[in-house]
Amino acid sequence: MATTARLRVTVNGETRESEVESRLLLVHYLRDHLGLTGTHIGCDTSNCGACTVHVDGEAVKSCTLLAVQSDGSEVTTIEGLASDGQLHPLQEAFWKHHGLQCGYCTPGMIMAAADLLERHPNPSEEDVRHGLEGNLCRCTGYHNIVKAVIDAAGGEVEPTSEEVSA
Ligand code: FES
Ligand code: FES
Repeated sequence: MATTARLRVTVNGETRESEVESRLLLVHYLRDHLGLTGTHIGCDTSNCGACTVHVDGEAVKSCTLLAVQSDGSEVTTIEGLASDGQLHPLQEAFWKHHGLQCGYCTPGMIMAAADLLERHPNPSEEDVRHGLEGNLCRCTGYHNIVKAVIDAAGGEVEPTSEEVSA
């Protein structure tokens, strides 16, 4: 019989208490128990980063953590990143620079980038590429993602085609 455990965790500022199976992964807790389906599952090898969330302010791949390991923690998912109805600067920048195509990698990519900018407020292109190497994107070729992250940090980037033609 599966063992269960009591879990108390703050998710996007709201305290949640549940009885969960001890082997339940955090990503499944967020998606299936809390309905926070912005956190994606893109692999079963801990490689893709689509499931990245913040636990106590640090980016983690939520498929690599048991839900019970987050007991007592503060978890932020992509749904909790915007505040007061305003998109987070990274969300704005991904939109502005076309940093997504299918969008599957995007929530995890943005959560990883937000953690990166906490640690490197003025990242170089190399810092961004290195910082996001745990997050895979099959569509964009990464160029526009890197540009978006640098722009969100207030760095210099080439203008978008819309800005050139304006
Ligand atoms: S689903 Fe977690 S790393 Fe791919
Ligand atoms: S936008 Fe499709 S996987 Fe990144």
